Amino acid sequence: MAALFAPFKLKDVTLRNRIAVPPMCQYSAVDGHTTDWHQAHYASIARGGAGLVIVEATAVSPEGRITPGCTGLWTDTQIDGMAAIAASIKAGGAVAGIQIAHAGRKASANRPWEGDDHIAPDDSRGWETIAPSAIAFGENLPQVPRAMTKDDIARVTADFVAAARRALAAGFEWLELHFAHGYLAQSFFNVDANKRDDEYGGSFEGRSRFLLETLAAVRAVWPQNLPLTARFGVIEYDGRDEATLAESIRLVNLMREAGLDMLNVSVGFSTPHASIPWASGPFLAPVAQRVREETGLPVASSWGIDVPEVANRVVADGQMDLVMIGRAHLANPHYPLKAAQQLEVARPTWVLPAPYAHWLERYRGQA
Ligand SMILES: Cc1cc2nc3c(=O)[nH]c(=O)nc-3n(C[C@H](O)[C@H](O)[C@H](O)COP(=O)(O)O)c2cc1C
Repeated sequence: MAALFAPFKLKDVTLRNRIAVPPMCQYSAVDGHTTDWHQAHYASIARGGAGLVIVEATAVSPEGRITPGCTGLWTDTQIDGMAAIAASIKAGGAVAGIQIAHAGRKASANRPWEGDDHIAPDDSRGWETIAPSAIAFGENLPQVPRAMTKDDIARVTADFVAAARRALAAGFEWLELHFAHGYLAQSFFNVDANKRDDEYGGSFEGRSRFLLETLAAVRAVWPQNLPLTARFGVIEYDGRDEATLAESIRLVNLMREAGLDMLNVSVGFSTPHASIPWASGPFLAPVAQRVREETGLPVASSWGIDVPEVANRVVADGQMDLVMIGRAHLANPHYPLKAAQQLEVARPTWVLPAPYAHWLERYRGQA
Protein backbone atom coordinates (compact mmCIF):
# COMPACT_ATOMS: atom_id res chain seq x y z
CA MET A 1 0.00 0.00 0.00
CA ALA A 2 1.34 3.41 -0.95
CA ALA A 3 2.01 5.56 2.12
CA LEU A 4 -0.24 8.29 0.67
CA PHE A 5 -3.22 5.95 0.90
CA ALA A 6 -2.71 4.76 4.47
CA PRO A 7 -5.42 6.00 6.86
CA PHE A 8 -4.47 8.68 9.38
CA LYS A 9 -5.93 8.96 12.86
CA LEU A 10 -5.82 12.11 14.96
CA LYS A 11 -7.79 12.19 18.19
CA ASP A 12 -11.13 10.48 17.42
CA VAL A 13 -11.03 11.33 13.72
CA THR A 14 -9.75 8.96 11.03
CA LEU A 15 -8.96 10.15 7.50
CA ARG A 16 -9.24 7.57 4.72
CA ASN A 17 -5.89 8.66 3.29
CA ARG A 18 -3.14 11.28 3.65
CA ILE A 19 -4.44 13.61 0.96
CA ALA A 20 -5.92 16.82 2.36
CA VAL A 21 -7.46 19.72 0.51
CA PRO A 22 -6.07 22.89 2.11
CA PRO A 23 -8.27 25.90 2.72
CA MET A 24 -8.76 27.83 -0.52
CA CYS A 25 -10.81 31.05 -0.54
CA GLN A 26 -13.51 31.12 -3.18
CA TYR A 27 -14.26 34.85 -2.77
CA SER A 28 -17.89 34.02 -3.54
CA ALA A 29 -19.72 34.73 -0.27
CA VAL A 30 -22.37 37.40 0.26
CA ASP A 31 -22.03 39.25 3.57
CA GLY A 32 -19.99 36.31 4.83
CA HIS A 33 -22.72 33.80 3.95
CA THR A 34 -21.91 30.86 1.70
CA THR A 35 -23.58 30.53 -1.70
CA ASP A 36 -24.44 27.74 -4.14
CA TRP A 37 -20.90 27.99 -5.48
CA HIS A 38 -19.43 26.86 -2.15
CA GLN A 39 -21.92 24.04 -1.85
CA ALA A 40 -21.10 22.59 -5.27
CA HIS A 41 -17.37 23.20 -4.95
CA TYR A 42 -16.89 21.46 -1.61
CA ALA A 43 -19.25 18.58 -2.38
CA SER A 44 -17.42 17.89 -5.62
CA ILE A 45 -13.96 18.00 -4.06
CA ALA A 46 -15.00 15.75 -1.17
CA ARG A 47 -16.43 13.16 -3.56
CA GLY A 48 -13.10 13.12 -5.33
CA GLY A 49 -11.51 11.07 -2.56
CA ALA A 50 -9.38 13.28 -0.30
CA GLY A 51 -9.24 12.25 3.34
CA LEU A 52 -9.76 15.79 4.65
CA VAL A 53 -11.32 18.88 3.12
CA ILE A 54 -10.68 22.13 4.96
CA VAL A 55 -13.12 24.92 4.16
CA GLU A 56 -11.51 28.24 3.25
CA ALA A 57 -10.32 31.02 5.58
CA THR A 58 -13.56 31.97 7.30
CA ALA A 59 -13.55 35.29 9.08
CA VAL A 60 -14.26 35.54 12.79
CA SER A 61 -15.48 39.13 12.36
CA PRO A 62 -16.48 41.32 9.40
CA GLU A 63 -13.23 43.32 9.50
CA GLY A 64 -11.28 40.02 9.54
CA ARG A 65 -12.30 39.15 5.96
CA ILE A 66 -9.63 39.36 3.29
CA THR A 67 -12.17 40.54 0.69
CA PRO A 68 -15.88 41.42 0.76
CA GLY A 69 -16.44 37.96 -0.81
CA CYS A 70 -14.92 35.95 2.05
CA THR A 71 -16.96 33.60 4.20
CA GLY A 72 -17.62 34.27 7.87
CA LEU A 73 -18.77 32.69 11.10
CA TRP A 74 -19.31 35.87 13.09
CA THR A 75 -23.08 35.52 13.33
CA ASP A 76 -25.47 32.61 13.79
CA THR A 77 -27.17 33.13 10.42
CA GLN A 78 -23.94 31.92 8.81
CA ILE A 79 -24.18 28.49 10.46
CA ASP A 80 -26.81 26.88 8.21
CA GLY A 81 -24.86 27.35 4.98
CA MET A 82 -21.72 25.98 6.60
CA ALA A 83 -23.68 23.05 8.05
CA ALA A 84 -24.87 22.09 4.56
CA ILE A 85 -21.27 22.24 3.32
CA ALA A 86 -19.97 20.15 6.24
CA ALA A 87 -22.71 17.58 5.58
CA SER A 88 -21.83 17.36 1.89
CA ILE A 89 -18.14 16.90 2.67
CA LYS A 90 -19.00 14.03 5.02
CA ALA A 91 -21.39 12.55 2.46
CA GLY A 92 -18.42 12.48 0.08
CA GLY A 93 -16.50 10.37 2.59
CA ALA A 94 -14.06 13.05 3.73
CA VAL A 95 -13.61 14.61 7.14
CA ALA A 96 -15.00 18.15 7.25
CA GLY A 97 -12.55 20.78 8.44
CA ILE A 98 -12.66 24.55 8.50
CA GLN A 99 -10.08 27.30 8.92
CA ILE A 100 -11.08 30.32 11.01
CA ALA A 101 -9.20 33.51 10.38
CA HIS A 102 -8.63 37.22 10.85
CA ALA A 103 -6.82 38.96 8.00
CA GLY A 104 -5.44 41.89 10.05
CA ARG A 105 -3.65 44.47 7.90
CA LYS A 106 -4.19 42.40 4.73
CA ALA A 107 -7.99 42.75 5.05
CA SER A 108 -10.23 44.99 2.94
CA ALA A 109 -8.74 43.83 -0.35
CA ASN A 110 -10.11 43.25 -3.82
CA ARG A 111 -10.48 39.69 -5.09
CA PRO A 112 -7.25 38.29 -6.61
CA TRP A 113 -8.68 38.50 -10.12
CA GLU A 114 -9.91 42.05 -9.48
CA GLY A 115 -6.57 43.50 -8.47
CA ASP A 116 -5.53 41.67 -5.28
CA ASP A 117 -4.87 45.10 -3.79
CA HIS A 118 -6.43 47.15 -1.01
CA ILE A 119 -9.85 48.54 -1.79
CA ALA A 120 -9.42 52.28 -2.44
CA PRO A 121 -10.01 54.53 0.62
CA ASP A 122 -12.95 56.29 -1.09
CA ASP A 123 -14.67 53.01 -2.03
CA SER A 124 -17.55 52.19 0.32
CA ARG A 125 -16.88 48.43 -0.04
CA GLY A 126 -13.72 48.79 2.07
CA TRP A 127 -13.22 49.10 5.83
CA GLU A 128 -10.73 50.09 8.52
CA THR A 129 -8.10 47.40 9.09
CA ILE A 130 -6.56 46.53 12.45
CA ALA A 131 -3.16 45.05 13.34
CA PRO A 132 -0.70 44.89 16.25
CA SER A 133 0.94 48.13 15.08
CA ALA A 134 0.05 50.90 12.62
CA ILE A 135 2.41 49.55 9.95
CA ALA A 136 1.25 48.75 6.42
CA PHE A 137 2.22 45.53 4.63
CA GLY A 138 3.28 47.62 1.62
CA GLU A 139 3.28 47.30 -2.16
CA ASN A 140 -0.22 46.21 -3.27
CA LEU A 141 -1.51 46.47 0.32
CA PRO A 142 -0.58 50.03 1.37
CA GLN A 143 -3.42 50.76 3.83
CA VAL A 144 -2.05 51.65 7.25
CA PRO A 145 -3.97 49.62 9.87
CA ARG A 146 -5.14 50.99 13.21
CA ALA A 147 -3.02 49.66 16.07
CA MET A 148 -5.18 47.41 18.23
CA THR A 149 -6.03 48.37 21.77
CA LYS A 150 -6.02 45.68 24.44
CA ASP A 151 -9.82 45.68 24.21
CA ASP A 152 -9.51 44.94 20.48
CA ILE A 153 -7.18 42.04 21.24
CA ALA A 154 -9.55 40.57 23.83
CA ARG A 155 -12.48 41.04 21.44
CA VAL A 156 -10.73 39.26 18.53
CA THR A 157 -9.76 36.33 20.77
CA ALA A 158 -13.41 36.12 21.85
CA ASP A 159 -14.42 36.23 18.17
CA PHE A 160 -12.19 33.22 17.47
CA VAL A 161 -13.88 31.38 20.32
CA ALA A 162 -17.38 32.27 19.09
CA ALA A 163 -16.49 31.21 15.53
CA ALA A 164 -15.11 27.90 16.84
CA ARG A 165 -18.39 27.25 18.63
CA ARG A 166 -20.31 27.99 15.43
CA ALA A 167 -18.01 25.70 13.43
CA LEU A 168 -18.78 22.92 15.89
CA ALA A 169 -22.50 23.65 15.68
CA ALA A 170 -22.21 23.42 11.88
CA GLY A 171 -20.81 19.89 12.20
CA PHE A 172 -17.13 20.40 11.48
CA GLU A 173 -14.81 17.87 13.10
CA TRP A 174 -11.45 19.47 12.38
CA LEU A 175 -10.61 23.08 13.23
CA GLU A 176 -7.64 25.00 11.87
CA LEU A 177 -6.64 28.39 13.27
CA HIS A 178 -5.18 30.64 10.59
CA PHE A 179 -1.99 31.87 12.21
CA ALA A 180 -0.11 32.21 8.90
CA HIS A 181 0.32 34.19 5.69
CA GLY A 182 0.86 37.65 7.17
CA TYR A 183 -2.64 37.83 8.57
CA LEU A 184 -3.43 39.03 12.07
CA ALA A 185 -1.86 36.28 14.20
CA GLN A 186 1.23 35.98 12.02
CA SER A 187 1.78 39.72 12.26
CA PHE A 188 1.65 39.58 16.05
CA PHE A 189 4.60 37.17 15.88
CA ASN A 190 6.53 39.01 13.18
CA VAL A 191 9.17 41.43 14.48
CA ASP A 192 8.69 43.91 11.64
CA ALA A 193 4.90 44.02 11.87
CA ASN A 194 4.68 44.11 15.67
CA LYS A 195 6.36 47.10 17.31
CA ARG A 196 4.13 47.15 20.40
CA ASP A 197 5.67 48.12 23.71
CA ASP A 198 3.09 46.36 25.88
CA GLU A 199 2.87 42.66 26.81
CA TYR A 200 1.67 41.77 23.27
CA GLY A 201 4.91 42.84 21.59
CA GLY A 202 8.66 43.09 21.97
CA SER A 203 10.14 39.86 23.32
CA PHE A 204 9.46 36.35 22.02
CA GLU A 205 6.97 35.93 24.87
CA GLY A 206 5.21 39.18 23.98
CA ARG A 207 4.94 38.42 20.26
CA SER A 208 3.69 34.89 21.03
CA ARG A 209 1.04 35.99 23.53
CA PHE A 210 -1.88 36.64 21.16
CA LEU A 211 -1.39 33.29 19.41
CA LEU A 212 -1.08 31.29 22.63
CA GLU A 213 -3.99 33.03 24.36
CA THR A 214 -6.23 32.57 21.33
CA LEU A 215 -5.25 28.93 20.96
CA ALA A 216 -5.90 28.23 24.65
CA ALA A 217 -9.25 30.04 24.55
CA VAL A 218 -10.39 28.05 21.51
CA ARG A 219 -9.10 24.78 22.97
CA ALA A 220 -11.30 25.40 26.00
CA VAL A 221 -14.44 25.25 23.83
CA TRP A 222 -13.33 22.88 21.06
CA PRO A 223 -13.92 19.25 22.13
CA GLN A 224 -10.82 17.45 23.36
CA ASN A 225 -11.57 14.45 21.16
CA LEU A 226 -11.55 16.51 17.94
CA PRO A 227 -8.40 17.80 16.22
CA LEU A 228 -7.42 21.41 16.78
CA THR A 229 -4.70 22.49 14.38
CA ALA A 230 -3.08 25.72 13.26
CA ARG A 231 -1.56 26.93 10.04
CA PHE A 232 1.54 28.91 10.89
CA GLY A 233 4.26 30.44 8.77
CA VAL A 234 7.45 29.13 10.37
CA ILE A 235 9.77 30.77 7.85
CA GLU A 236 9.71 34.02 5.85
CA TYR A 237 12.52 33.53 3.29
CA ASP A 238 13.65 37.05 4.17
CA GLY A 239 17.31 36.29 4.87
CA ARG A 240 16.78 35.59 8.58
CA ASP A 241 15.50 32.07 8.11
CA GLU A 242 17.45 30.10 10.70
CA ALA A 243 16.60 32.56 13.48
CA THR A 244 12.93 32.71 12.46
CA LEU A 245 12.66 28.95 12.19
CA ALA A 246 14.25 28.38 15.60
CA GLU A 247 11.88 30.93 17.20
CA SER A 248 8.90 29.48 15.36
CA ILE A 249 9.67 25.96 16.55
CA ARG A 250 9.95 27.28 20.09
CA LEU A 251 6.47 28.76 19.73
CA VAL A 252 5.04 25.59 18.17
CA ASN A 253 6.28 23.63 21.18
CA LEU A 254 4.38 26.05 23.41
CA MET A 255 1.32 25.63 21.19
CA ARG A 256 1.60 21.85 21.62
CA GLU A 257 1.61 22.35 25.39
CA ALA A 258 -1.46 24.60 25.02
CA GLY A 259 -3.36 21.81 23.27
CA LEU A 260 -2.44 21.98 19.59
CA ASP A 261 -2.84 18.58 17.88
CA MET A 262 -1.08 19.19 14.55
CA LEU A 263 0.67 21.97 12.64
CA ASN A 264 -0.02 22.93 9.05
CA VAL A 265 3.46 24.20 8.20
CA SER A 266 3.50 27.20 5.88
CA VAL A 267 5.33 30.38 4.92
CA GLY A 268 4.95 33.63 6.89
CA PHE A 269 4.22 35.95 3.96
CA SER A 270 4.78 38.88 6.32
CA THR A 271 6.77 40.90 3.79
CA PRO A 272 6.43 41.62 0.09
CA HIS A 273 10.24 41.35 -0.15
CA ALA A 274 10.68 37.62 0.51
CA SER A 275 12.63 35.35 -1.86
CA ILE A 276 10.50 32.23 -1.83
CA PRO A 277 12.08 29.28 -3.66
CA TRP A 278 8.99 28.52 -5.73
CA ALA A 279 10.92 26.63 -8.35
CA SER A 280 12.49 24.15 -5.92
CA GLY A 281 9.72 21.54 -5.97
CA PRO A 282 8.36 20.69 -2.51
CA PHE A 283 10.55 23.31 -0.85
CA LEU A 284 8.73 23.21 2.49
CA ALA A 285 9.11 19.44 2.95
CA PRO A 286 12.45 19.60 4.83
CA VAL A 287 11.10 22.50 6.90
CA ALA A 288 7.99 20.49 7.79
CA GLN A 289 10.17 17.52 8.70
CA ARG A 290 12.25 19.65 11.02
CA VAL A 291 9.13 20.99 12.76
CA ARG A 292 7.86 17.42 13.06
CA GLU A 293 11.10 16.19 14.59
CA GLU A 294 11.66 19.11 16.95
CA THR A 295 8.10 19.36 18.27
CA GLY A 296 6.89 15.77 18.13
CA LEU A 297 3.67 17.05 16.53
CA PRO A 298 2.21 15.52 13.38
CA VAL A 299 2.54 17.99 10.51
CA ALA A 300 0.90 18.78 7.20
CA SER A 301 2.28 21.02 4.51
CA SER A 302 1.82 22.13 0.94
CA TRP A 303 3.09 24.39 -1.84
CA GLY A 304 3.92 22.85 -5.14
CA ILE A 305 3.27 19.20 -4.31
CA ASP A 306 1.08 17.94 -7.12
CA VAL A 307 2.98 14.99 -8.59
CA PRO A 308 1.52 11.87 -6.88
CA GLU A 309 4.93 10.19 -6.57
CA VAL A 310 6.26 13.26 -4.75
CA ALA A 311 3.22 13.41 -2.47
CA ASN A 312 3.71 9.74 -1.66
CA ARG A 313 7.42 10.16 -1.05
CA VAL A 314 7.11 13.02 1.46
CA VAL A 315 4.77 10.85 3.53
CA ALA A 316 6.81 7.66 3.11
CA ASP A 317 10.00 9.52 4.11
CA GLY A 318 8.43 10.90 7.28
CA GLN A 319 8.61 14.53 6.15
CA MET A 320 4.92 15.07 6.74
CA ASP A 321 1.88 13.14 7.93
CA LEU A 322 -0.61 14.77 5.56
CA VAL A 323 -0.03 16.39 2.19
CA MET A 324 -2.10 19.47 1.42
CA ILE A 325 -2.86 19.44 -2.29
CA GLY A 326 -4.56 22.65 -3.35
CA ARG A 327 -4.53 23.86 -6.94
CA ALA A 328 -4.31 20.33 -8.33
CA HIS A 329 -7.75 19.77 -6.77
CA LEU A 330 -9.12 22.86 -8.52
CA ALA A 331 -7.85 21.42 -11.79
CA ASN A 332 -9.18 17.94 -11.01
CA PRO A 333 -11.46 17.29 -8.01
CA HIS A 334 -10.72 13.59 -8.60
CA TYR A 335 -7.03 14.09 -8.03
CA PRO A 336 -6.92 11.21 -5.49
CA LEU A 337 -8.17 8.81 -8.18
CA LYS A 338 -5.40 9.96 -10.50
CA ALA A 339 -2.89 9.57 -7.68
CA ALA A 340 -4.15 6.08 -6.85
CA GLN A 341 -3.90 5.02 -10.46
CA GLN A 342 -0.39 6.40 -10.84
CA LEU A 343 0.74 4.79 -7.61
CA GLU A 344 -0.94 1.54 -8.66
CA VAL A 345 -3.14 1.33 -5.59
CA ALA A 346 -5.47 -1.63 -6.06
CA ARG A 347 -9.09 -0.80 -6.88
CA PRO A 348 -8.73 2.94 -6.53
CA THR A 349 -12.41 3.44 -7.26
CA TRP A 350 -13.15 2.93 -3.57
CA VAL A 351 -12.78 6.68 -3.38
CA LEU A 352 -15.53 7.30 -5.90
CA PRO A 353 -19.31 7.13 -5.64
CA ALA A 354 -20.87 4.32 -7.69
CA PRO A 355 -22.26 6.47 -10.53
CA TYR A 356 -18.67 7.42 -11.37
CA ALA A 357 -16.84 4.36 -10.06
CA HIS A 358 -18.61 1.89 -12.30
CA TRP A 359 -17.57 3.70 -15.46
CA LEU A 360 -14.09 4.74 -14.47
CA GLU A 361 -13.24 1.25 -13.24
CA ARG A 362 -14.65 -0.43 -16.32
CA TYR A 363 -13.02 1.92 -18.76
CA ARG A 364 -9.87 2.57 -16.79
CA GLY A 365 -7.01 3.05 -19.16
CA GLN A 366 -9.32 4.67 -21.68
CA ALA A 367 -10.05 7.70 -19.48
C1 LIG B 1 -7.51 29.99 -4.72
C2 LIG B 1 -6.66 29.84 -3.49
C3 LIG B 1 -7.15 30.27 -2.26
C4 LIG B 1 -6.39 30.08 -1.09
N1 LIG B 1 -6.94 30.40 0.12
C5 LIG B 1 -6.30 30.05 1.25
C6 LIG B 1 -6.96 30.14 2.50
O1 LIG B 1 -8.13 30.46 2.60
N2 LIG B 1 -6.23 29.83 3.61
C7 LIG B 1 -4.94 29.39 3.53
O2 LIG B 1 -4.34 29.11 4.56
N3 LIG B 1 -4.32 29.25 2.35
C8 LIG B 1 -4.97 29.54 1.21
N4 LIG B 1 -4.38 29.30 -0.01
C9 LIG B 1 -3.11 28.56 -0.06
C10 LIG B 1 -3.42 27.06 -0.22
O3 LIG B 1 -4.03 26.55 0.95
C11 LIG B 1 -2.16 26.24 -0.52
O4 LIG B 1 -1.28 26.30 0.55
C12 LIG B 1 -1.46 26.71 -1.76
O5 LIG B 1 -2.36 26.75 -2.86
C13 LIG B 1 -0.25 25.84 -2.10
O6 LIG B 1 -0.62 24.51 -2.33
P1 LIG B 1 -0.69 23.97 -3.84
O7 LIG B 1 0.66 24.23 -4.44
O8 LIG B 1 -1.00 22.52 -3.69
O9 LIG B 1 -1.78 24.73 -4.54
C14 LIG B 1 -5.10 29.51 -1.18
C15 LIG B 1 -4.60 29.14 -2.42
C16 LIG B 1 -5.37 29.27 -3.57
C17 LIG B 1 -4.82 28.78 -4.89
